[in-house]
Amino acid sequence: MFKSELEKLKQNLLLRTIKDRASRQGARIIIEGKEYLNFASNDYLGLCHHPEIISAAEDALKEFGTGAGASRLLSGGTILHRELESKIALFKGTEAALVFNSGYAANTGIIPAIASEQDAVFSDELNHASIIDGIRLSRAKTYIYRHKDMEHLHTLLKDCRAEKKIVITDTVFSMDGDTVPLNDIYNLCKEHGALLYIDDAHGTGVLGKGKGALEHFGIKPEPWIIQMGTMSKALGSFGAFAAADKDTINWLLNSARSFMFSTALPAHVAAASLASLDVLKKETWRIDRLWQNRNKLMNALKGFNTGSTETPIIPIIMKDIEGTLKLSEQLYEKGIYAPAIRPPTVKEPRIRITVTAEHSEEDIERLTEAIQKANIPL
Ligand SMILES: Cc1ncc(COP(=O)(O)O)c(C=O)c1O
Repeated sequence: MFKSELEKLKQNLLLRTIKDRASRQGARIIIEGKEYLNFASNDYLGLCHHPEIISAAEDALKEFGTGAGASRLLSGGTILHRELESKIALFKGTEAALVFNSGYAANTGIIPAIASEQDAVFSDELNHASIIDGIRLSRAKTYIYRHKDMEHLHTLLKDCRAEKKIVITDTVFSMDGDTVPLNDIYNLCKEHGALLYIDDAHGTGVLGKGKGALEHFGIKPEPWIIQMGTMSKALGSFGAFAAADKDTINWLLNSARSFMFSTALPAHVAAASLASLDVLKKETWRIDRLWQNRNKLMNALKGFNTGSTETPIIPIIMKDIEGTLKLSEQLYEKGIYAPAIRPPTVKEPRIRITVTAEHSEEDIERLTEAIQKANIPL
């Protein structure tokens, strides 16, 4: 089955394959018995293997067992889930929070819960696939605005007669690494009485001294703002959350289908996220180190087309898919893992580099030297 579809993907250089690790996540990983320098992880702060976080997860694993055994609304939740939600609310400055099983589950659950057919949703053209799927599920009238084009968003908001309007945006765009003009969006939402839904998956732990996009842009939480974020990236754990006012959270737990009809996260994952939030607060050097590394790499990549990145996600935008695959393969041969990202994930093919707090100066030099020496038209 699907032979011809697969053949077509192969011919168009769009066939994806999986490279599984035989080691923990980190700056160095083992694939098929060989060590690679890893520039392909969102574990920005190196928390996936932090001893305190592992120990917290181990304790919870022993106490609560491997699986949650049921959804939160049945018996799947534990006191750790509850504690995590209180901590997230405090961390994000909101009245309440609700944990979801992944960022994908959060976006595809929350968006249809807050938007329905008669409502209007305004979405940046480069928003994450999970937001796009969430919007599709909601059946709301959808207005896609050009990437970060505030004039366009303004016109669309002004011309829309829907009673409920919701602006949805990534805070850090996951394939380009640029940040959203959140102050402008905040003002537009205020002016037009729109709700604001931000996906802070790559902002949490990275922007605003770790607190995320609102802190970074100096915006106070409001009852009309919903902050979604993930524990799966900078926090080195798994799962996601919505942080908002009490009523919104209560509504979500009564209506977000991905929350209601899915087994809860296991308690040890909640324990890992809890410990991770503590580490984030204590070990602020990790965030400093991340940004130092990011700036070093950006300096070293001067002259390459890195688009409009402002964060540790650094794309090298290429002319064509063939060249992108070749560059990725050449790096791989030299023991560097930096995968090619192709359509439909992005319009312009690229190597997506993510630098983390764990990389050393030599690691960054090795990567840039390998890119510079690659004989591929960039
Ligand atoms: C912006 C954004 N939102 C949501 C997600 C989904 O999060 P998760 O990997 O936890 O499902 C991702 C990550 O893939 C992302 O980059």
